[in-house]
Amino acid sequence: MSQSIIFTNEINQALAQLLSEMDFNKLFVLTDENTAHYVAPKFGETLYTHNAINITIPAGDTYKNIESLAHVWSELGNNGATRRSLLINLGGGMVTDLGGFAASTFKRGIPFFNIPTTLLSAVDAAVGGKTGINFNGLKNEVGVFNEAKAVIISTIPLYTLPIEEVKSGFAEMLKHSLLKDSSTFNKLLAFDFDNYTPDHLLDLLEESVNVKRDIVAQDPHEKGLRRALNLGHTVGHAFESLAMQRLAPIPHGYAVAWGMVVELVLSHLMLKFDSTILHRYAQFVHDNYGAFHITCDDYPALIALMQHDKKSNRGEMNFSLLNAIGDIKINCEASEDDVKASLDIYRDLMHI
Ligand code: GLY
Repeated sequence: MSQSIIFTNEINQALAQLLSEMDFNKLFVLTDENTAHYVAPKFGETLYTHNAINITIPAGDTYKNIESLAHVWSELGNNGATRRSLLINLGGGMVTDLGGFAASTFKRGIPFFNIPTTLLSAVDAAVGGKTGINFNGLKNEVGVFNEAKAVIISTIPLYTLPIEEVKSGFAEMLKHSLLKDSSTFNKLLAFDFDNYTPDHLLDLLEESVNVKRDIVAQDPHEKGLRRALNLGHTVGHAFESLAMQRLAPIPHGYAVAWGMVVELVLSHLMLKFDSTILHRYAQFVHDNYGAFHITCDDYPALIALMQHDKKSNRGEMNFSLLNAIGDIKINCEASEDDVKASLDIYRDLMHI
């Protein structure tokens, strides 16, 4: 993996250093309306020195679409971008996904950097080379694998994030810890959201991103092992879709945190995953994320959604589960009875 990932709270210096090492003729910065207002000014000096041209798109996942993409392509073209130009994507996952795709396709590909501004994008979207847009009503329907040349990860942008967004990103860190080892997992379960500052997260963030980096290095195009990163996501995506149908959307990371409770129950039922760890995890999620409310009347809809998950090829329910912490088993097919039993136990664990 040639991607350089820099963990620092001296973002301006890191960016200036990276730019001094790059051979480029024009610099472009992609922001959404929020990051243009709140974050881009922090880089003013460095970007001004390089006469950076700003491209702004509307904020929010609904704008991760072909119109925003065409806008970025047009702005690059109209402002004289060439294959030697560089695009910096400054924002959350929507900006890094769309900007990465715009850069990967403009003139058959120009280099790009990612500077994630949410915990969720720092720990997941900005790293690992997945780029794309939503299309035809489907999330991430069109895109390519192509890594940012560099990613600068810092906790500075987290100071302005609402706690719900921090917790949302933290759920992906919990996932990485379950894929790694007990000591990382235990450190995260000891995390105290009531008494923390974002600085406390920089080391944990580095440890977490490195878990993803190692997995992606072994399987960049998700042919096998990278599916480990889907832990919690078969159920999590079903919860997200059900919440959308109820017109009460839930943050992605919360859905993953709850989805992992169900999938650790499944891991226990199918693979003998340790029930003590399952209970500790479920308690942490209950205390910090609350619960996603379901009844048995929701089971048919949830099962139908899981059967349409992107990992499923023939309508089966496909999960990435754990034998134990750090010991993943991908492509586990669960029966409807196992899934229903897991949802029952989830409701008990979440006291609903
Ligand atoms: N978000 C999971 C992956 O990048 O593969």
